[in-house]
Formats: sequence, structure tokens, C-alpha cells
Amino acid sequence: MTYRKKLIEVALPLEEINKQSAREKSIRHGHPSTLHLWWARRPLAACRAVLFASLVDDPSEYMPDEKSAHDERERLFRLIERLVNWDNLNDEKLFAEARLEIARSVARNLGVEVPVGDAAIREFLATKAPPVLDPFAGGGSIPLEAQRLGLRAYASDLNPVAVLINKALIEIPPRFANRPPVHPPLTPGPSPRRGEGGRGEEQPSLFQKEWRGAQGLAEDVRYYGKWMRDEAEKRIGHLYPKVSVIANPDGTYRHATPEEIQNSKSKIQHLTVIAWLWARTVKCPNPACGATMPLARSFWLSTKKGKQAWVQPIVDNKAKAVRFEVRTGEGKAPDGTVNRRGASCICCGTPVPFEYIRAEGKAKRMGAQLMAIVAEGKKGRIYLAPVANHEEIASTAVPIWKPELDLMGKAAVNVPLYGLRTQADLFTARQLVSLDIFSDLTIEARKRIESDALVAGLPLPIASVYANGVMTYLGFAVDKAADYWSTICFWHNGAAHQKIVNTFARQAIAMSWDFAEGNPFSESSGHFFRFVSLISEVIDTAAPAISTAQVKQCDAADLYSNKEVCVSTDPPYYDNISYADLSDFFYVWLRRSLGKIYPEIFTTMLVPKAQELVATPYRFDGDKERAQRFFEEGLGRVFVHLREIQQPKYPITVYYAFKQAETEEDSNDDNNDTLAVSTGWETMLEAILLAGLTLTGTWPMRTELITSLKKNVSALASSIVIVCRVRALDAHAVTRREFIAALKRELPPALKELQQGYIAPVDLAQAA
Ligand SMILES: C[S@@+](CC[C@H](N)C(=O)[O-])C[C@H]1O[C@@H](n2cnc3c(N)ncnc32)[C@H](O)[C@@H]1O
Repeated sequence: MTYRKKLIEVALPLEEINKQSAREKSIRHGHPSTLHLWWARRPLAACRAVLFASLVDDPSEYMPDEKSAHDERERLFRLIERLVNWDNLNDEKLFAEARLEIARSVARNLGVEVPVGDAAIREFLATKAPPVLDPFAGGGSIPLEAQRLGLRAYASDLNPVAVLINKALIEIPPRFANRPPVHPPLTPGPSPRRGEGGRGEEQPSLFQKEWRGAQGLAEDVRYYGKWMRDEAEKRIGHLYPKVSVIANPDGTYRHATPEEIQNSKSKIQHLTVIAWLWARTVKCPNPACGATMPLARSFWLSTKKGKQAWVQPIVDNKAKAVRFEVRTGEGKAPDGTVNRRGASCICCGTPVPFEYIRAEGKAKRMGAQLMAIVAEGKKGRIYLAPVANHEEIASTAVPIWKPELDLMGKAAVNVPLYGLRTQADLFTARQLVSLDIFSDLTIEARKRIESDALVAGLPLPIASVYANGVMTYLGFAVDKAADYWSTICFWHNGAAHQKIVNTFARQAIAMSWDFAEGNPFSESSGHFFRFVSLISEVIDTAAPAISTAQVKQCDAADLYSNKEVCVSTDPPYYDNISYADLSDFFYVWLRRSLGKIYPEIFTTMLVPKAQELVATPYRFDGDKERAQRFFEEGLGRVFVHLREIQQPKYPITVYYAFKQAETEEDSNDDNNDTLAVSTGWETMLEAILLAGLTLTGTWPMRTELITSLKKNVSALASSIVIVCRVRALDAHAVTRREFIAALKRELPPALKELQQGYIAPVDLAQAA
């Protein structure tokens, strides 16, 4: 089988790709990772470079001699270096240049002329270039970058949440590209600030302005998201009371007394609460004490220098009760009452083992006591002691609906030990009420969007599809809310930031003792409109809204009618992440808000699990070997299938996730479930070779910032891109002698090329 070598089979400007990939991790606004949480996303920079270099011929295929090929390669390197820079994401000229480069190679491979002009090139790529297929699409990095390069993007995943993320990134935006928003006129006022829902913008400007790409869609998401927020405040705002405070002469604040509230209004400030900080409680097992003992990991509220604040528990020994005050200034918070070894009663000092707390939790005798309130002050956060009526108000919330579905597998490793057995158990009643109302409002917003779209002139079927599209993003905002509004969230009291830490800050659902309950209606950490803004920024900034896309839910092994595709994919890796178990957390809320518009992907009550390629022993009665075999054989079957549908003129690229658990640090994993996977690399290569593919390159990708790497993996790449080709059925085996002769002939010039590609010495052996 003859084919032209692609750039990725010869050299890559790895240093810049890795630098930009690492940099992406710190980008907070507009990055697809802020659209919806997904685990182990590949950096866009790496995906973009890999795809570009998989489609573009290596210059040795078309330049007359080695020197000119080298110079041409350097030119392509410079182009890739600009392409991977996040700052250039919306540089249309640069991307037109990249598309032209791909079109040249595609035309060369087809033996046709290169079309002239960007529109013709786009059309050419969208019809003649091989579509890029990612059957393990996850958070959508690879399909998104395929689309940005003007290629058809085919994405599929078994997991409905991943499928929706891909729809939101590549399927919905191009359908409504370059259209103005449909929302009705707004009252005139000051110009809108970015992320403020277009507040104050006048309707004529909606039409006067040129709406490029998905900007109109993003604007509607902001507008209807703001409508949802305001409407929710009307319905449940009373559950989120303000605090009435008076400034002390030293600049701190105290609660106003009921008399002061009535009499001296002028000095009183009514501040919006950012978060209520609670400690879980159990009854002290010491019969002589029996106090309701607070369980708190830490009493610090802020460790910021000069702004220290902490909770001071005050024990009333007679009443066997604890109340809390807030202290600021010099001093130190007392130690928390729970650590890795167990808890202790703050009233009598009795050590309390986890077994007791677990039993109390399972018997539904675990409660919560308000420890502190964080409010929005003019100059930053204000920490206040609890007020009784705030606890009472929270206790009046009664949810109408809740997701009473059991936590499964990896999501159920820890919290069910303490009696948190279902998805609903992860939330307070007030949080459930809010998530309920926001889910309902997503459905109500849809009706409004559809009728506004009709008024704005969209014909019925399109108005309806548009409403579904906007609603999808609003459903994502509710998912983000769930992530920030569960009792797993805690208050980050760090020196740099004080904020709510989301449920999935770790890749697990781990028990929290003290937790932060955010206010949907604040303008600070964890409020609803922030989620809407983050989502609309992604649509604005990162969605290319060009070329067609196909997104579907299916098992990668069952694929597909597609043929002649170019596969680029990032398969799951043993038991690294249990996507299905963890994503149930989001699925239950998405199903509630979006289930009716996506009936085909929300058929099951929870995320489908049986076909998921993950080597978790619990799905095989604890049998690790069977779990490992299931994963390896399943992946092997997928490769066989991918070989059949791959267009042989192009290479397949597979991301091999370097498993963090292969390091010593994780080898004594808590539950000992982690498999010994030192053979992982060989297994992957074997699966590829057995599927009738042959390796033509491997590239180490560093996606971690060096400073944040765990010490014992600092010398290793965090993933490897494997480049392979469809092996001809009549390919003959070579003898050892032939192999060594070929190595001697080809290795020295290849190494030279690699060194010029700026590969770090530590990665050279791998890349070679
Ligand atoms: C490593 S992740 C992909 C991450 C993605 N490249 C990104 O950047 O976000 C692997 C994906 O494979 C999916 N998956 C697992 N088993 C599958 C199967 N049998 N068929 C299709 N997808 C599967 C998981 O749901 C997960 O989204």
C-alpha cells in the first residue's frame, strides 16, 4: 500500500505544543473545560497540532531535495507554533492559512487542483478531506479541533453526558452561525459588561451589529440564563435571606439587633450572602456528654495575610451545646474536630472513631449546624457568625422532586459509608429546591425562546430546533450549579482565594465534614449567572461554528456506517477514571431538564455502564483479572473496527494516557483496586498490532505544567500520541538482519530531524 508520509510521521515542534498545552490549563474564560465538566480532557493545542500534522504531507513527499524539505518543514513548524497558541484562536487569517495547507495535501493525495479562496477551500475540506472520527469523544477536544480546521467532525461516546457536550461544542453552533440573537428588546441603559446578559443593550443594535460565528447564540444563552436567574429569585429568593449588619469602628461587622433593624436604618447594611458554612454533626457517644458535636476539618475561614478570619467554637458545658463566633485579626483557629484518624468531641474531648460516625450517618442521625456566614461586602468578603433565623429559613425548604437513585461504583466508594447513599443525599433540602426550580425554568425558558424566535422571523421547525439548542446550554448551567451546590463542596480558605470548591475538584465523591452552601443569587463564588456566563463565553470564544458535525451515542465497538475516515482518538485507560459512575451526578439533572428534547440519549435512568470500557473489578464480582481482560479485549475489538473504516492514505492517531497510578505514589491506593498496569504500554501496542495496524510514530506529550507535576513523574510525559497505519494484508515480515539494516539507514537522519523538532532529551528515546 503506498501512501504519502504525513508530517506527524517525521517531526513535530513538540516544545511549543507542550508549552501551549500546559498553558491551557490555566485558561479560565472561554475554554471548553468551562462548558461542562469532563474528566481527563486532552489539551486543545495538542489535538489541533496532531490533527494538522496527520493531514499534511511531510515535505519530503513533495520537495525536490533534503534541504528544501527541511526548510519547508521549518515553515510548517512555524505555522503549527502559531496555531497552538490560545491567543490566536480567533485569528481567522491564520486558520485560513492552516486550512489551505491541509487542502494542498488533500488535493495532492487525490490528484486534483487546490481550490482557490477560503470559501472554496472550506467547501473542499468539508466534502473531499476525510472526516475525522473520534469514537471516544468525551469532552470533545479532538472533534472540536477537527472542526476548527475545517474538517467534518464525527464524534461518538457511550456516555450521554459526553454526547451532549459534543453536541454543544460542534453540532449546535454551526447550525445557527452568523445569526443575531432572537431575544426581545431590552430597556436602554448602560452598555452591557461582558458576561452580564446583555443587560441594557437596545434591540436595534442586535440587528445593526454583525453577529459572527456563534456570538448570537451565546448572547441568547446569556439573556435567557439571566431571565432564569431573575425568575428563580422571584420564586425562591426568600430561601436565601440577606444579612443585616452594622460596621464596627475597627472595620469589622456585626449583625444588627432586631431593635436596630427597626430603629436606626441608616447605619444598617443589608448584604447578600455568598455562602452559608455548615458543619455536619452527630451526637457525642460519651453517655456523660451527649452533646451535638460539630464535625469540622478546619475552622479557618481565610488564611490571607492581614485578612485572617476563623470560626471560634464556644462550648456551653451545661447545655452540652456549641455555638460559633467569628474572629478576625491576630490569632489562630483552633484545630478542626476531624482528621484522618477520626473525630473528637469538642465539648468533652472524647475521641470518636469513624465507625461510630458511619453508623450514625447510616441511621440518618447525622445533622448539620451553621458555623458561619460569608457575605458580600463593598471591599471583599465579610465573615459573620450564624444567625438563628438563617438556620430556620434553610429548614423550611421542601423539595418537590429529588434524584433518589443510588450512587454507583466509584462514586459510591466513600460517602455511602456515612449514609449518603443516593444522588439526592448529596444535597441539602434547599439545594434540591433550587436545582429543581432551575431545572423547571430551563423547560419554561425553552417555550419563551421558541416564541421569541418565531417573532424574530425564524420559521417553525428552525425556531424549535434553536430553542432546543439554547436550552441545552441552560441545562449545562444547572449541571454546573449541581457541581457547586452540593454538600461535598467546601470553603477554600487559602491565602490567594476564598471561594467555594466544587464537588468534582477531585475525581471522586469524597466525604466533606464542613461544607459551603452557595447562594444562587449572589454575585460571587458559586452564583447561577456565573455558570451561564462561563458557558456563553465558551460558545463565543471556542466554538468554531463551521463545517458539519455528526454526534451520536454509541459503543465504540458497534460503530458505524462511516467509511474512509481519519481516526484520532483518546481511549479510556484501564480503571483510570470511571466516567459512567461519576457522570451519573450530572446525568440525573440533565435528564430532568433536557430528557424530553433528547429522548434517544436519555433512555436509561442512569448512565449506561455495562459496555463502558473500564477495568473496574466491582463490575466483575471483584475479579481483577476478568476486569482487565474485559478492557483489553474490548479495546482490541475497537481497533479492529477502526482499521476497517480508516482511510489508508492517512494515519490513525491514538492518545495513550500515561496512568498516574503507575507511579509509586499511588501504588498503595486506598481500596487497592488499582491494577498493576506496568504492562499497559505493551498491551496497548499489542492491541494495535493485532488489529492489523502498524506503528509509524510515537510522540510524548506533556500536558502538565512542570511545577505542578508530582515529584516522581516529573521526568515522564503525561501522555503519548501513537501514530499508526493500516497494515497491508500482504505485508511481509522482515528478518532481524533486514530490520537492523533499515534501522541503521533510517535512524540517524530521523534523530537529527527529531532534535531539530525541539524534543526534550528525556523524551528523545520515546519519540525515536
Ligand atoms: C479519555 S476519555 C476521552 C477524553 C477526550 N479526548 C477529551 O479530551 O475530553 C475516554 C472516553 O471514552 C468513553 N467510553 C468508554 N467506554 C466506551 C465505549 N465502550 N464506547 C464509546 N465510548 C466509551 C468514556 O465515556 C470517555 O468519555
